[in-house]
Amino acid sequence: MRRKVIAGNWKMNMLPNEAMNFINALAERQGQEKTCEVILCVPYTDLFYSLLTAQNTPIKIGAQNMHWEERGAYTGEIAPEMLQCINVQYVIIGHSERRQYFAETDETVNKKVKAALAHELTPILCVGETLKQKEVGLAEEVITKQVELALGGLIAKQVEEVIIAYEPIWAIGTGKVATKEDANDAIKQIRNKIADLYGEETAQNVTILYGGSVNGKNAKELFSTSDIDGALVGGASLKVGEFEEIIKSI
Ligand code: PGA
Repeated sequence: MRRKVIAGNWKMNMLPNEAMNFINALAERQGQEKTCEVILCVPYTDLFYSLLTAQNTPIKIGAQNMHWEERGAYTGEIAPEMLQCINVQYVIIGHSERRQYFAETDETVNKKVKAALAHELTPILCVGETLKQKEVGLAEEVITKQVELALGGLIAKQVEEVIIAYEPIWAIGTGKVATKEDANDAIKQIRNKIADLYGEETAQNVTILYGGSVNGKNAKELFSTSDIDGALVGGASLKVGEFEEIIKSI
């Protein structure tokens, strides 16, 4: 079901004590107020501490990656059930940094999306084009193909469970935010693709976020558009005050 979501992606930042302090401070500022779903996707080593600290608050906790297999000889990997059994509810899948530095492909992203849904984890599926692809006019083709391949084999009802994050790679961590018109258009293109594949109702029900240099100053404008349902936030999710500004902007 389409909903408003602000998700933080802490990447490889925050020690457990920093995570607990952040969550306590955010919970204190927010109280039980719930204008949108607030999710923090934290490093594995922060998960347990974060889940305990976020208990009895509206803040939800997610992971940043997982393997698709149930278990086995995959040194260094984390299985879906390992997240599920400690009550993690969300997992980022196919972030561009994983595609770029850890050789994730559309095929492994698809396996992970399916595995997450099979374990009642909500995938936050990331797609986005490079600057080069944008400059040669390939952005729409690239992002709609990524969406199609990532969702391959799912039924419409499952697609509605997935949160998609449109994150142009050139905007991630660069301070270069997409214009609200460009971000909204790209998200409309994703909805159109989903409408072609799964029907209009599914396309209207799927939650699609924008990500890439979102901060306390530009969030309101991005959220004033027709199709942007929230944000996946990297750098600005590391500062409580700034993250709270973004939450307030929705
Ligand atoms: P950024 O990162 O907000 O620091 O650009 C976004 C992301 O990588 O999800």
